[in-house]
Amino acid sequence: MTTMKNKLKNCFCCTFNEDQDQKISPQKNRDYPWNMYTLKELVHATNSFHNDNKIGEGGFGSVYWGRTSKGAELAVKRLKSINAKAEMEFAVEVEILGRVRHKNLLGLRGFYAGGDERLIIYDYMPNHSLLTHLHGQLAADCLLDWPRRMNIAIGSAEGLAYLHHEVTPHIIHRDIKASNVLLDSDFEAKVADFGFAKLIPDGVTHMTTKVKGTLGYLAPEYAMWGKVSESCDVYSFGILLLEILSAKKPLEKLPGGIKRDIIQWATPFVQKDTYEHIVDPRLKGMFDLVQLKVVVKIALACTDSNPENRPSMIEVVEWLKSGVGSRRKEMHIVKDHVDDETEDDEDFGDDDDDDTDYYETFDLKNHSGRVPRMPSRTR
Ligand SMILES: Nc1ncnc2c1ncn2[C@@H]1O[C@H](COP(=O)(O)OP(=O)(O)OP(=O)(O)O)[C@@H](O)[C@H]1O
Ligand SMILES: [Mg+2]
Repeated sequence: MTTMKNKLKNCFCCTFNEDQDQKISPQKNRDYPWNMYTLKELVHATNSFHNDNKIGEGGFGSVYWGRTSKGAELAVKRLKSINAKAEMEFAVEVEILGRVRHKNLLGLRGFYAGGDERLIIYDYMPNHSLLTHLHGQLAADCLLDWPRRMNIAIGSAEGLAYLHHEVTPHIIHRDIKASNVLLDSDFEAKVADFGFAKLIPDGVTHMTTKVKGTLGYLAPEYAMWGKVSESCDVYSFGILLLEILSAKKPLEKLPGGIKRDIIQWATPFVQKDTYEHIVDPRLKGMFDLVQLKVVVKIALACTDSNPENRPSMIEVVEWLKSGVGSRRKEMHIVKDHVDDETEDDEDFGDDDDDDTDYYETFDLKNHSGRVPRMPSRTR
């Protein structure tokens, strides 16, 4: 990681600034489309980081909404403590965000590093995060209808595939979760938070590292042995897919204190071919059964306990696009409530065709070891 260290050093040399009012400039030799902000401007935009402007709080600090004097809306992440660890996270985030540009990744607009302040400025996402829609304040409004959920699944997969396969060196996100998928004004997904990201030098297939990330989303080999590779993100993405469909949390505490993960919860419905029970009841039956089956099967392939059996994010994007995308035009809405067992056969009468359709569309039969199938996991 010598190159990385040098890059970080360069990054700091050009941008760390002790003078609060001096402008922060992007690195001279590189073409970063960053804006220039002064601390004064950011303090003014966020009403002195007023509590009323606070959007939320994460492990590394708080995020504030702000509006510049020119009227632009911003989200400002203020790191809460400046120790070596936070400094590193800040440097990694700035370095990584500076080099990635994709329609499904949250763009960095600028940053400030001076005195005790470390601020990262992002585009403000008016529709907040998936978390707020699935489990938080906005969940009751149910703004995430089925087509939006499918679009978010494809968009976030595309953002992740870009990180894994198009950026050099490749980037493993390591903290894919609902609060890190933000939604713009059109409900397009923007994957955020690269502070945990890990750059992978060329030719390295996996690395052993201290476990970071969020419980419930961690791949078993990563949680147990710290083995990190792109397939750890694929696992987390599979959990996220199930969460998008069901609005269930990745881990839930059952009476008696036993914890159950979302795959353990969903698996019996897959085995009994009662996929409709997986769907968020707030959708009141307004979903497409064929798309549902496709996405659940992809989620199960992504969360295979053996990382070698998991698909790549490129494959996931292809499968999602051909399985979900191809049905957008012909999408039918299942109107009756899914809990009504007696009417299930009528509502989902084309079940047999669905599976054929699925395998024909995806051509997964020849995809050795990676065909989404009934999970035979040992958990
Ligand atoms: N650009 C943004 N626009 C709108 N909301 C944002 C933006 N960035 C972050 N948020 C929201 O602010 C909250 C805090 O984000 P933050 O990334 O600090 O923590 P987190 O994702 O909840 O947890 P972690 O620290 O583990 O990443 C989250 O709800 C997040 O969705
Ligand atoms: Mg976050």
